[in-house]
Amino acid sequence: MRQRNVKNKAEIINNSKYIIKEPEKLKGNWRNVFENDNPLYIEIGMGKGDFIRENALKYPNINFIGIEKFDSIIALAIKKLDIDIPNLKLIRMDALNIENVFEKEVDKLFLNFSDPWPKPRHEKRRLTSSEFLMRYENIFKEKKIIEMKTDNRELFEYSLFSFNKNDYKIEDISLDLHHSDYPDNIMTEYERKFTSKGNVIYYVKVVK
Ligand SMILES: C[S@@+](CC[C@H](N)C(=O)[O-])C[C@H]1O[C@@H](n2cnc3c(N)ncnc32)[C@H](O)[C@@H]1O
Repeated sequence: MRQRNVKNKAEIINNSKYIIKEPEKLKGNWRNVFENDNPLYIEIGMGKGDFIRENALKYPNINFIGIEKFDSIIALAIKKLDIDIPNLKLIRMDALNIENVFEKEVDKLFLNFSDPWPKPRHEKRRLTSSEFLMRYENIFKEKKIIEMKTDNRELFEYSLFSFNKNDYKIEDISLDLHHSDYPDNIMTEYERKFTSKGNVIYYVKVVK
């Protein structure tokens, strides 16, 4: 995502009640943050956060955490949160550290329009590479569920192979999400942008 510098980003992040500042300290205990035993869904690379925010508003009995690695982008997400959403928290971090933050407590992981990193030498940076799928292994409660959306055919095909190689099974798939019967799709910023250009949106839900 192209970043524009956001003035006062550090202040916006530090003063936000949505931000969890030392997420490693909560590993294994996220239910204490939300003060309930509701399911926990996370999104890695949430960008400006439209998807995770709309989900949290629509499903108050599910806890949501949005993860984003850049200060400027997460600051823009915070600026959009002008109402109280008790089942939503945000973390500013690189997902490389995900294993240090969650342990057997995540019910579902969303990967929406992840950066494709097309060069072979950057494969390990793709959020659906075997390296990342290994990092996710221990964050899930029992059943592992990943839902992915992208308009990038190469990344989608690569991810299907990678999921298969790592023993995930396809539970649902669409090669044209917006012309399928997938119920109640919540759009991301990138999804709106690419759909308006006429791009097809690919979707897959895998389980293990
Ligand atoms: C192409 S944007 C998509 C944003 C949003 N999911 C959407 O669909 O509109 C990808 C986002 O993922 C973030 N990102 C990429 N790699 C990441 C990582 N390793 N950890 C956390 N965030 C990451 C980027 O900073 C960027 O905001």
